[in-house]
Amino acid sequence: MKRVLLFGGSGILGTEVLRMLQNEKIDYVAPRSSDLDIRSKNQVTDFARDFKPTWIINCAAWTNVDGAEESFEEACELNEVAVENIANAAEAIGCKVLHISTDYVFDGESETPYKEDSLVNPINKYGGSKLMGEKALMAASPGSFVVRTSWLYGVSGKNFVKTIAGKALRNESARVVDDQVGSPTSAKDLTAGIVSIMRIQPAPGIYNFSNEGSCSWFELARTVYKNVGADPELVEAIDSNSLNLKAKRPKFSLLNKDKWKAAHLSEVPEWRSSLELVLPEIVTELKQLGEV
Ligand SMILES: NC(=O)c1ccc[n+]([C@@H]2O[C@H](COP(=O)([O-])OP(=O)(O)OC[C@H]3O[C@@H](n4cnc5c(N)ncnc54)[C@H](OP(=O)(O)O)[C@@H]3O)[C@@H](O)[C@H]2O)c1
Repeated sequence: MKRVLLFGGSGILGTEVLRMLQNEKIDYVAPRSSDLDIRSKNQVTDFARDFKPTWIINCAAWTNVDGAEESFEEACELNEVAVENIANAAEAIGCKVLHISTDYVFDGESETPYKEDSLVNPINKYGGSKLMGEKALMAASPGSFVVRTSWLYGVSGKNFVKTIAGKALRNESARVVDDQVGSPTSAKDLTAGIVSIMRIQPAPGIYNFSNEGSCSWFELARTVYKNVGADPELVEAIDSNSLNLKAKRPKFSLLNKDKWKAAHLSEVPEWRSSLELVLPEIVTELKQLGEV
């Protein structure tokens, strides 16, 4: 019988995971960050010891990429120290950990999709903190699973697709970079992937998961505009440099999913078809929020 302790249940991904746990009628608990701060070793250890989960799913993280440049220590508290707390608590009670990481552990200089064992070389501090988290987890709890993903979007939380859909529905123009290539990932598809890891239990370690296919942020934005019935010409292509962001972004962040497929984990839908499925829900959410 599965018994899941979920961290980060209010985020883009965590909300979908929470919904899945409810739909699948899995015994779970998802403490809010105000009730359980995963940066506290004692809080994590005590909670895990009392609840006795068979799995801990960690969707919590410091995800402010630019903010991590100036607040690296705070980012590491969440992306490294908290992950180590989770790993130690899991080892103490003999439960498995499924943790989420990022394409930003890579430098984006490759011309072919990154494999799980490709050379890591983060070019921003967020990526550095996430890499330290991966290492801390696997050192303290080697039976764990790390799923690296990219360009995550969903119905809940602040994310690119939702922001762009809002602009499109308000017939606003958007300036979007066209010099970064990656794979958008639907939080629903990644959640199906998480379920498949818990069910199949492949060899522990790192797995890549993103939707199939690739695009630039500009192409993604134009596709969102088109899908919601707005004029794609309202989206203008710009260079990353013109944004003067604090953190550098990898130019290329495609993830190779051969290992995922060979382990017979969940289906990897094409990004356009997943986007089409999720956009109506995002539009409804934006209407409910009064943003469009
Ligand atoms: N977003 C992306 O494009 C992207 C891309 C690649 C990988 N990822 C990875 O995917 C995972 C999920 O990302 P996301 O975008 O869904 O995250 P998110 O929406 O930013 O949510 C972060 C979650 O972390 C929780 N949290 C923050 N501080 C906490 C604390 N001290 N104790 C416990 N919980 C805390 C938040 O709870 P509160 O709301 O209560 O603060 C929230 O539920 C992360 O590991 C991220 O690094 C994301």
